[in-house]
Amino acid sequence: MANAPGPVQDIEFTLNGDPVSRTASSRQLLVHFLRDDLGLRGPKIGCDTGHCGACTVNYNGKVIKSCMTLAVQADGAEIETVESLAGESGELDDLQESFRENHALQCGYCTSGVLMSSKFLLERNPKPTAEEIREGIQGNICRCTGYVNIVKAISAAAHGDKGLDLIERMNREHSQEVRG
Ligand code: FES
Ligand code: FES
Repeated sequence: MANAPGPVQDIEFTLNGDPVSRTASSRQLLVHFLRDDLGLRGPKIGCDTGHCGACTVNYNGKVIKSCMTLAVQADGAEIETVESLAGESGELDDLQESFRENHALQCGYCTSGVLMSSKFLLERNPKPTAEEIREGIQGNICRCTGYVNIVKAISAAAHGDKGLDLIERMNREHSQEVRG
């Protein structure tokens, strides 16, 4: 329970499909609990103030920022982190594979949060437009990529090669509008 003095509470929840039973400090943030107590390094800490989305996880079927949630709020919840995406032998899932193929990351610090938001988007809307993809990841800040390849990767995961065509067309139209 790193850096989190204060009253403690026993909590039980499901993490990436497995039951977890632990003690958490009432002051501890969920992202710190996941990283420091449970050793999951997928959720990242970018800002610790709810702005960047690096700490995004799925909580009871919705994406949340785990730096804005207390660890004790995990009690009774179902939580999924980016560690839930890969297969048992570490093989990438389709969305992760599409990120790899489309060069959708550079430093990778934002990537786990973006993947969790994208997965949530595709569960609700399996065939999103480019605009819907951009809206779906608007809570995730990426300082490296300019988002173009991230949007391509999500579109390709959703639509296959046609997804890349959709993004190319959107980019061409956007360039024409800018040139006037
Ligand atoms: Fe949680 Fe930035 S670390 S939003
Ligand atoms: Fe570096 Fe997104 S790849 S912040």
